[in-house]
Amino acid sequence: MTKIISKEELEYQKKYAEKVRLILNGLSSERGEALRFSVVTYGCQQNEADSERLAGMLSDMGYEKTDDVKEADLILVNTCAVREHAEVRALSVTGQYKHLKEKKPSLMIGVCGCMVSQEHRLDDIKFKYPYVDFAFGTSYLWQLPSIIYARLTKKKRLFMLDAEDEGNIAEDLPVMRECSYRAWLSVMYGCNNYCTYCVVPHVRGRERSRTKEDIIKEAKELIADGVKDITLLGQNVNSYGKTLYPDYGFAELLSDINAIDGDFTLRFMTSHPKDATKKLIDTMARCEKCAPQLHLPLQSGSDRILKRMNRRYTLESYKELVSYAREKIPGVVLTSDIIVGFPGETEEDFDLTMQALSDIKYDMVYSFIYSKRKNTPAAEYEDQVPDDIKGERFRRMLDLQNGIGQKINETYLNKTVRVLCDGISKTDADMLAGRTDGGKNVCFSGKAEEGEYVNVKITEARPFVLIGEIM
Ligand code: 5AD
Ligand code: SF4
Repeated sequence: MTKIISKEELEYQKKYAEKVRLILNGLSSERGEALRFSVVTYGCQQNEADSERLAGMLSDMGYEKTDDVKEADLILVNTCAVREHAEVRALSVTGQYKHLKEKKPSLMIGVCGCMVSQEHRLDDIKFKYPYVDFAFGTSYLWQLPSIIYARLTKKKRLFMLDAEDEGNIAEDLPVMRECSYRAWLSVMYGCNNYCTYCVVPHVRGRERSRTKEDIIKEAKELIADGVKDITLLGQNVNSYGKTLYPDYGFAELLSDINAIDGDFTLRFMTSHPKDATKKLIDTMARCEKCAPQLHLPLQSGSDRILKRMNRRYTLESYKELVSYAREKIPGVVLTSDIIVGFPGETEEDFDLTMQALSDIKYDMVYSFIYSKRKNTPAAEYEDQVPDDIKGERFRRMLDLQNGIGQKINETYLNKTVRVLCDGISKTDADMLAGRTDGGKNVCFSGKAEEGEYVNVKITEARPFVLIGEIM
C-alpha cells in the first residue's frame, strides 16, 4: 500500500526541525560558528535527488553545508545497493569516518538509503560500526528531523528498517539543489518489475506515482527558479500513472510539462523497453522541449537470458522500437545498460549481446558485471558465471563499444552543437565541460559561464566525449 504522508505528519517533522534548530543555536553560539553537515552520495540519480532533500531538511534545521567531511559535525552517507561494489565502497568510506569521530567525539554519523533498507546491512551497520549514530531505510527519509532530534536529546543509537513492501510519498520536503540550472524531478518511486537480478523492488518498495498536479507544480517552480534542464526521474517512468489514473500516463505528463511556458529542456530516465510505446516516441517527437535522448536499457541481446531476467520483451521488439525512435526523432542519442555474466550466460548468449551492440550502435553503453544480490531470484540460480569469464567478456564488450562510440562521435566532427556549460572540466582545468541537448559530454575551449548555452564546433571525437571550441 502506498502511504501518502499527511500534512499533519509533515508538520510534526517541521516542529522537530524547529527543536533541532534551537539546540543547534545553543551549540553554535557556544562554539562561535554554525554546525556543518556533509551528505555523501552513492548510486543513481534518484539517490542524488534524495540527497538534495536530505540537505534541504538539514539546512532547515540550521546546519550549514560543507563539502569537506573533516569539517562536518554531521555526516550522512546515502548508500546504493544495486551492485556489491557500491555497498563495499559505502561501507569502507563509513569505516574511515571512525577516525574523524575519534578526533571529534561530537561528530554524528548517519547511514541511509538503499543499502540499509536491507535487514542484513542494517544489522552490519548496527553491530560492526558502533560509531554510527543512526541508520534508516529509504522510506524514512522524510523523518530526518525527528531522527536527528532523538539522537541529539536521547543519546540512543537509532536503526530503522523499512517495512516489507512499504512505500510512501512525502510532498513538499525542503530541497537544496546542487545545481541552479539543472534539476531532478521525481515523478514516481519504487519498482514492480522484479527483474530477477535487481534489488531495487526490495529496497525502494512498490511502484507509486506522484499526482500530476504535484509534479506540474514542482516543474513550474523549478522553471520560475531559472532551471533550464529538467530530468524526470523514476525507475520505470513509462508506467507512470498506472496506480493513479485510468487514462493518463507518462506521455500525457510529458505533454503537460512541455506545455508550461518557459525556455527549458526536458529529459527523463529510466524507460523500461517493455513499457516504452510508440505513443511515447510520438510525444517526444512532438514536444519541442523534449531532448532527443533516450536511455533504454537492453540488459542482454539474448532472448533466453532476457526471459531469465524477467524483462518481458525480445530483442526483436526492442529493435523495432529503436528504429521507430530513430525515424521519428532524428539524431536521437541512444544509450543503454548491459549486464555481463548474468547466471547461465553462455558464449553464444554473450555473442548475441555483442551482435546487438554492433547492430543497434548505441552512443553510450553503461555495462555492468553481474553482481549477486541477496533475496533476488538470480542469486539462487546454480549456473553462476565464473568471475574470470565475466571479466574477460566485460573487457571485450568495452572494446567493442569504444569503437562504436568513437565512430558515432566522429559524425559530429566539424558540426556545431548547442551545449549547456557546466563550468571547468574535471579532467582538464584549461577546458570547459558541458552537455549537448542529446546529453552528450563535450569538453571545449573558450569562455562561458556555468549554466550558459553556447555553440561549440566539434574538432575532435573520442569514444566518450566530443572535443571542441566555442564559436
Ligand atoms: N548486477 C549488475 N548490474 C545490475 N544492474 C541492476 N542490478 C544489477 C546487478 N545485480 C544494472 C542494470 C540496471 C542498472 C541501473 O544497473 O543494468 O539497468
Ligand atoms: Fe530493477 Fe528491473 Fe525495476 Fe530497473 S526495472 S529497477 S532493473 S527491477
